Amino acid sequence: MSLLQVVDVDVRFGGVHAVQEVRLEAEAARVTGLIGPNGAGKTTLFNVITGLQEPTAGRVKFDGRDITDVRPHKRARLGMARTFQRLEVFGSLTARENVLVAAEIRKSWSSDGSNPRAVTEEILDRVGIREVADDRVDSMPTGMARLVELGRALATNPRLVLLDEPGSGLDQQESDALGRLLIDLADDGLAVLLVEHDVELVMHVCHLVYVLDFGRIIALGTPAQVQADPRVQAAYLGSEEGLEDIEAAALADEGVDNR
Ligand SMILES: Nc1ncnc2c1ncn2[C@@H]1O[C@H](COP(=O)(O)OP(=O)(O)OP(=O)(O)O)[C@@H](O)[C@H]1O
Ligand SMILES: [Mg+2]
Repeated sequence: MSLLQVVDVDVRFGGVHAVQEVRLEAEAARVTGLIGPNGAGKTTLFNVITGLQEPTAGRVKFDGRDITDVRPHKRARLGMARTFQRLEVFGSLTARENVLVAAEIRKSWSSDGSNPRAVTEEILDRVGIREVADDRVDSMPTGMARLVELGRALATNPRLVLLDEPGSGLDQQESDALGRLLIDLADDGLAVLLVEHDVELVMHVCHLVYVLDFGRIIALGTPAQVQADPRVQAAYLGSEEGLEDIEAAALADEGVDNR
């Protein structure tokens, strides 16, 4: 059974039906992608999964347990961590301090005997932010600050991590490094749910990709399958940029062994 199960979730904001009958699963040891045009409902769905948004209908299950009515901080304790599209880090703290705060919280929750300072140093290396460890986060480029936020999420030792556009603001080299990190994290057993506009990154790292459009899942499959799906191409037709991304990723992936 998948670690995360979203079952028939609906969200309405007044007249806006932001999420409609969505079924989605994220498995341990896999990177699962969630893509779709702007306003498709991706962030709203993340908010439902993490407990920041109450669904109008439907259930969320984690490790076989119905957590729809569980408060967000309790979901975090169960092993869910996330990053935010609009970036939520402590700007006046350094990268190291941001990660340490989370590592301290983890220690206070669990009896795993973890050493917060050791955990922090390990994560600085793993996420690739050691060089900026002593810099205040509000002095960093956004892409780097996003990596700090990812490090902070990992410091809680989650079983599922939800990433809302972690690649935005990264250059090609940084984005490639992020891709390798996500694959490594999955290899270590983590379930990763990835929202990302960088289609090349999604296509390269994801095992399965869900495509959301106007609140509905319109396609689910391997990267190659969703790229070839006419419904997906049509959904992106409204957005020139998005379509170019899909086409460019399709070209870049020719001959590449997708996971
Ligand atoms: N709190 C809210 N109140 C009212 N409408 C909302 C609220 N949050 C989101 N919406 C609407 O719900 C729809 C889905 O928005 P959401 O932010 O989930 O999309 P998204 O797929 O994350 O888009 P993007 O790619 O631009 O981040 C949009 O029409 C949005 O305007
Ligand atoms: Mg969003």
